[in-house]
Amino acid sequence: MRDAIGSPRVRDLVLGPMPLRVMPGPCVRFARTVQSNASAEETALVASQDVALAAAILQLAYALRPKGGPDIQTVLDAIRSLGPGILKSLAEGGGWEPLDEATMNDLHIPAVHEHSRVVSERAAWALAASASTRPLAMQAGTAGFFHDLGKLVVMSKAADSCRRLGGWSDGGIPSADLLDREREAFGATHAEIGADLLALWGFPATVVEAVRLHHQEPASHEEASPVRRAVYDANRETNRRQSCED
Ligand SMILES: [Fe+2]
Ligand SMILES: [Fe+2]
Repeated sequence: MRDAIGSPRVRDLVLGPMPLRVMPGPCVRFARTVQSNASAEETALVASQDVALAAAILQLAYALRPKGGPDIQTVLDAIRSLGPGILKSLAEGGGWEPLDEATMNDLHIPAVHEHSRVVSERAAWALAASASTRPLAMQAGTAGFFHDLGKLVVMSKAADSCRRLGGWSDGGIPSADLLDREREAFGATHAEIGADLLALWGFPATVVEAVRLHHQEPASHEEASPVRRAVYDANRETNRRQSCED
């Protein structure tokens, strides 16, 4: 899988012990929730306040999943699959580095998490509305939640370059321009970096594809997967609404 990661610069960004920094608030709440033996549902809710934290949990669940074990599609699935003992160890020594206040504010990191949550809900709802696509709604929700994970990777590893990019909201910036500037700065776009990392961590191919292509409108003749289309539409719609609010 390591060979699947394109350029050495991208490899440097996504490999390593823990390529993501987490927000301190959710990190502390997650540790408290796990220590208090809360239900899996409550723990998943807390973990989902931070995309990087949730990604680390899924990463571990995929790594430890027994052969032929149940499918892991969501943060809740991952938490059930890991069980309280492993979660406690993770909460105590997760190896993640908390973000400092200045970086969080400069790079609008809480806004990226909130945007991800909204895109996730919108993508899942779009597929849940029809009986034929309902089974894919969970995957769309997961892909929507992690679609901008690549931003968090570069924010964690190359905060100064992110500052030089001049802010990092999708809204208000033409996508092509944003993606070109990322390619120039990092050797890949945030969509490609996030997808490479998720592939490396064992996320399902459908989720990885939807993340990689979330800024590329499927051509009309193309047989795009419903998950990919739902994430693309949800991200575009969320950006459109957020731009209107600015
Ligand atoms: Fe994006
Ligand atoms: Fe986005």
